[in-house]
Amino acid sequence: MIEKIKSMILELCKDKDWDWKSHIESVVKYSKLLAKKLDADEEVCEISAWLHDINKLEEGLNSKEHHIKGAKRSVEILKGFSNDQELIKKVEHCILTHSNSKDNMPKSKEAKIVASADGLSHYENFFSLAYLVYNIEKKDYSDGKNWLIQKYQKTWGKLIPEAKEIAKSRYEAIKLILGEQN
Ligand SMILES: [Fe+2]
Ligand SMILES: [Fe+2]
Repeated sequence: MIEKIKSMILELCKDKDWDWKSHIESVVKYSKLLAKKLDADEEVCEISAWLHDINKLEEGLNSKEHHIKGAKRSVEILKGFSNDQELIKKVEHCILTHSNSKDNMPKSKEAKIVASADGLSHYENFFSLAYLVYNIEKKDYSDGKNWLIQKYQKTWGKLIPEAKEIAKSRYEAIKLILGEQN
């Protein structure tokens, strides 16, 4: 099932305006790594990581409430592959909560892992986020820089301790490069 989901997502990543492949592969990598470290359900984490931004892949980068629409869509997709209701429910929760939004906070260990893995991908792919800000959202120099500073600060606050450990040196380097907000 994972292979089928993976190829479906990689197909959707093609010809997009942003480097989705790097983002999603990074979220998958960190989800699996953290699942091993924290003795969580690796299958749930990996499937959720592949599917977590499916709504943005299908409807575009600016799609609103992509966590809610993506969770629904993922349930539809998974029902085509599996009868395991428990697994489908667990994945649904991970996708619904991956943005750490007030109304949908991650509760399960697996959901906390996927939400943190999503954050970790931004520390790994600094230039993807910078590209998004300047090239896609067309922010000016200082708005873009302030946006990045805030984004990295906010994301840091939401990472689980094990994820902070992984991102620590990159965050220090990014802070050094971005400097203070102005
Ligand atoms: Fe997302
Ligand atoms: Fe994401």
